[in-house]
Amino acid sequence: MRKKYLFGGPQVKETIVPSMPYMGTKRKLVNKILNAIYRKIGDFNTLYDLFGGGAAMSVAALNAGHKVHYNEKNPAIAELFNYIKMGGELPNHWVPREEFHQKKGGDTWFAGILQTCWSFCNNQKDYMYGSQLEPIKKLIHLIIVNKDESALEELSNILGVQLSMPVDRLDFKPQLRKLPPHIPYKNLAHIQHLERMDSLIRLQKVENIQTITVSNLDYREVEIDAEDSIIYCDPPYINTEKYHISDFNHVAFWDWCRTVKRPVFFSEYTAPDDFEIVATFNHESPIGSASEHIRKHKQTIENVYWNGKCM
Ligand SMILES: C[S@@+](CC[C@H](N)C(=O)[O-])C[C@H]1O[C@@H](n2cnc3c(N)ncnc32)[C@H](O)[C@@H]1O
Repeated sequence: MRKKYLFGGPQVKETIVPSMPYMGTKRKLVNKILNAIYRKIGDFNTLYDLFGGGAAMSVAALNAGHKVHYNEKNPAIAELFNYIKMGGELPNHWVPREEFHQKKGGDTWFAGILQTCWSFCNNQKDYMYGSQLEPIKKLIHLIIVNKDESALEELSNILGVQLSMPVDRLDFKPQLRKLPPHIPYKNLAHIQHLERMDSLIRLQKVENIQTITVSNLDYREVEIDAEDSIIYCDPPYINTEKYHISDFNHVAFWDWCRTVKRPVFFSEYTAPDDFEIVATFNHESPIGSASEHIRKHKQTIENVYWNGKCM
């Protein structure tokens, strides 16, 4: 919840928030962005998160005590967020490559699970594991989730070490870290799809998450109905990895920001000069598509721009 200071305006702690696993997630920045917004225009009631993605800003605003509207054009992602906020049961079966490719393009919450938790580098289109690693990760999944004794025996034989049945994922990590050096599989202790599913479980536990309004529209179609509302936009960046929904027109977006009567804040690397920069973040972003734990990173400078409209 935001603290309100008599002269300094509202302020939140700059913590990382729970969110859906998402390419370009702002989970580390959203509270800092909220503070930059407070510094510029003071307090407000409703926040519209029009390019919601993994919902990081929606969660930050909810935690700060705001009314929140989450919008996302990708139907599978919007459905998944809706499913999570309604407390839907999360599936925990192993998803083979064929099932991923058959179902990832659907409009269902399960397609959202595939895009967020089972895609390589969260790119929403490629299967998480290479074909060599897939059977090993499957055995690990069957051991952790299903407590499958025959999978434990099979994995012990493949790795040449006697493994014992773990209580859970964290309990299995030390055993997978201590593998002999000749084992060709690196970082087996890093079981990405289960880590990502855990993020969804954490998100489901966010207090009052069920109060967030969810829509699946183009950003221009969302009706902004509250007088004391503000809009936050995190559109696909210029010249970066494409999402499932792509071909974003930045010029049309800037024009729209100029015509909207409410305060609009948006994250971008660059924007025309008539938008004021209200915050700048220097952070690391991944280069290319090597697997998540060995990827190189580059320093990027990202700004939050404002359309100049006040409360
Ligand atoms: C950079 S991501 C947002 C990430 C999000 N802020 C987070 O922290 O996870 C951009 C999102 O905008 C969505 N999108 C693309 N075009 C859109 C449009 N015209 N209207 C609404 N959402 C759109 C994409 O599907 C993608 O999920």
